[in-house]
Amino acid sequence: MFTQTITALAGAVDARDTSTALHSWRVKEIAGDIGRVMRLGDSDLEALEWGGLLHDVGKIGVPDHVLLKQERLNREERMIMNSHPVLGAQIIAPVTRLSRELPIIRGHHEWFNGSGYPDRLIGDEIPLLARVLHCADAFEAMTATARTARRPSRARRRSASCASTPGSSSTPRWSTPSCAPSGPTA
Ligand SMILES: [Fe+2]
Repeated sequence: MFTQTITALAGAVDARDTSTALHSWRVKEIAGDIGRVMRLGDSDLEALEWGGLLHDVGKIGVPDHVLLKQERLNREERMIMNSHPVLGAQIIAPVTRLSRELPIIRGHHEWFNGSGYPDRLIGDEIPLLARVLHCADAFEAMTATARTARRPSRARRRSASCASTPGSSSTPRWSTPSCAPSGPTA
């Protein structure tokens, strides 16, 4: 029942924007693959995969005129969009079984150089699993853009742009294009 509820939530997020359909599922798979290369323990792997499925759950609270807008967001719209990690953390906060996923969801848009959001954490201040998910999220955006012939969505263009600047948004030694960590990180 719990698994079904989580997957239904993830499906609800992906259904909001058809240009990113199945994004959550692909991020889950990529994050899990990275975690296995890192030889993370079972509980970390599970948190990564659930976190991957639910990382954008806060977009449920982002209105359509912002979420689906193809043109550049204005300052106010950007602030609304950038609230989705906090909204997501608030949505799952009451679910005690997802306590390990909460910092992943809240931190998946933090940048290694401190210019991310919502908390502008820098370097190792960002939870390790959130850094892994950030990398998986960016990698999915890049590969999805390459896979689809149509014009990539605004969100994908932005994520791909972030990921094409190695060392700025994700852990430097996980730099693209492989997006794979070189080994376990403390
Ligand atoms: Fe996100």
